[in-house]
Amino acid sequence: MFERQVYISGTMVPESQARISIFDSAVMLGDTATESTRTFGHHPFKLAEHIDRLYKSLKVMRIDPGMDATEMLRTTQNVLQANLQCYAPDQDCWIVHNISRGLSVPGSDPTLTSSGATVMIFTQYMCLRNWAQFYTDGCHAVTSMSRAVPTQSLDARIKNRSRLAYTLAESEVKLVDPLAQGVILDIHGNVSENKGGNIFVVSGGVLKTPTTANCLAGMSRSTALKLADGMGIPAVETILQPYDLATADELFFTSTPYCIMPATRFNGLPIGDGTVGPVTIRLLNAWSKMVGLDIVKQAQDQL
Ligand SMILES: Cc1ncc(COP(=O)(O)O)c(C=O)c1O
Repeated sequence: MFERQVYISGTMVPESQARISIFDSAVMLGDTATESTRTFGHHPFKLAEHIDRLYKSLKVMRIDPGMDATEMLRTTQNVLQANLQCYAPDQDCWIVHNISRGLSVPGSDPTLTSSGATVMIFTQYMCLRNWAQFYTDGCHAVTSMSRAVPTQSLDARIKNRSRLAYTLAESEVKLVDPLAQGVILDIHGNVSENKGGNIFVVSGGVLKTPTTANCLAGMSRSTALKLADGMGIPAVETILQPYDLATADELFFTSTPYCIMPATRFNGLPIGDGTVGPVTIRLLNAWSKMVGLDIVKQAQDQL
C-alpha cells in the first residue's frame, strides 16, 4: 500500500519514517510557525494566501525557511500531488506547514541554531466527524477560564505552534460541557477567538467579528466577510463582549476545516430562538457554492 509522503527540509520520506531531532526548537521552545490549508474536491483553498501569512509569521519570528514563497508554493503543490492518491474522491485533506528555527543550541541566545530551519510539509485526512452535527444542531459556545495571551506579548496574527494557552482554554470548556467549543476572552474581557477559529455574531442583521487586534486574521474569517459583502450583508469588525454573544441573533465560528460552525447556545443561554440562524445558513450555502462542494453533506456523510 502506498504510504503518505512527508517533506522534511529538502527530502521526501514516507510518513512512518519522518523524524525530527529531540533538540529541534519545535520541541525545545515551541518555536514554530505553522499553517493549515484544506482542499475542496482535492484542490487547495487559498494556498497562496496561507503561504503569504506563513511568510509574515516567519518574518516577525525571524526564521529563515531557506526558500522564498514561490518555491514554498511549488514544493507544497508537489507534496499535495504526491499524496492525493491516498484520498478517495469524496475525501479532502489538510496540508500542514510546520517550520521551526532548527536545532537548538543550549545557552543564552534562544535564536542560535546549529542547522537551518526545519521545514515540514505533510497532508492528513480531513476528519470532520466531530463538527458534523453542529451544522444542523449548532454547538454550545462556552467562555474559558484562561484568557488569551495578550497580543502585546505575542501578536495574535503570528500563526504559531506555541499552543498551550489555547489547549488549556479548550480543556476548561470541555469540563463544563464535553462538546463545548471555547470562546477565549482577552485580558480586558473582550471576545478574542477560539483555539482554532474566529468568532462572529449577527445582531439586527449586521455581521460582527472582533478586529485582528486580539485574534488571528483567519482565512475563513476573511472568506466569510467577503461572502457577506457579495450578498449585501453589512459587516463590522468591532469589540465584542460576552454580553454581545449572549444577546446576538446568531453566533458562529469560522475555521479552515469546518468553514462555518453555527452555535445555538452560549454559556447555557439559547442564541436567538435556539436554532441555526438564516444568515449563518446563507453564508454556508454561498461557501458551498463557491467551492463546488456541499460542505455540510461532506461532513455529515462521515457520521
Ligand atoms: C488561534 C486561531 N484562530 C483562528 C483560526 C482560524 O484561521 P483560519 O480560518 O485561517 O483557519 C485558527 C486556525 O487554526 C487559529 O489557530
